[in-house]
Amino acid sequence: MGVTGLAMLLYVTVHMVSNLKIFLGRDSIDGYAVWLRQLLDGLLGYEGVVWVVRVGLVVCVVLHMTAAIQLARRARKARPAGYQHRAKVQGSYAARTMRWGGVILALFIVYHILDLTAGVLNPNGVHLAVYDNVVADFQRWYVVLFYAAAVIALGFHIRHGLWSALQSLGASSAARQKAIQAFSFGVAFVITAGFLSVPFAVLTGLVG
Ligand code: HEM
Repeated sequence: MGVTGLAMLLYVTVHMVSNLKIFLGRDSIDGYAVWLRQLLDGLLGYEGVVWVVRVGLVVCVVLHMTAAIQLARRARKARPAGYQHRAKVQGSYAARTMRWGGVILALFIVYHILDLTAGVLNPNGVHLAVYDNVVADFQRWYVVLFYAAAVIALGFHIRHGLWSALQSLGASSAARQKAIQAFSFGVAFVITAGFLSVPFAVLTGLVG
C-alpha cells in the first residue's frame, strides 16, 4: 500500500503544481499540455510519456485497492467476533473514512477523465484547450462542489495514508510521532488547498 500510495502522491503533487499554471494564463497551461505530450517524443513517440504514466497509475490503483481489501480481510480474520464496545477514540476521522474516501476518489477519477481528458462531459470539451475546458467546467457551482468534495476526500486520504506509511517505517519516540503527524497534515493541506484554488478562482472570476 505504501509504495503505490507514495507513487500516486507524487503524481497528485506534480498535477496540483502544474494546475497552478492556469494563474499564469492560457498559453502557460495549454502549452504545458502540449509539452507533456511531446516529452521524450524521439524515444517513446507523441504522448508516449503520458501513456507510461497512465499505465503506471492504473497498476498503482489496482495494487493499492487489492492490498486494502487484503488488509481488511486479515483484520477481520484476526478478530472474527467483532467488538462489543467499539472504542470511540479509534484513530482520526481520516482513518475511519479511508475506505469510503477511496471509493469516492475512484468514482471522481472516472468522472474527471470523462470531463477534462475525454471532454465528453465538459461544456467546452476541446482537446488540448485546457484553459477553456477548465473555465467552462467551473462556471457551474455544482461541479465546483463535486470537485471540492473529491479534493477534500483526497486530503483526508493523504493525511492518513502518509501518516500510516511513515509510521510503518518506524516512529519510535513521541517527538517523532508528532513530527510525522504534522508533516502528513502539512502535505495534505498544501495539496488540497492547491487543487481547490483553481475551481474557486474560476467561480469567483479571478480566472476566466
Ligand atoms: C480542481 C482539481 C483538478 C483540476 C482542475 C484538474 C485538471 C485536470 C486537467 C485539465 C486534466 C487534463 C490534462 C490534459 O489533458 O493535458 C487532468 C487530467 C487528470 N487528472 Fe486532474 N484535475 C484536478 C484534480 C485531480 C485529482 C484530485 C486527481 C486524482 C486524485 C486527478 C487526476 C487526474 C488524472 C489521472 C488525469 C489524467 C487522465 C489522462 O490523461 O489519462 N485530477 N486534470
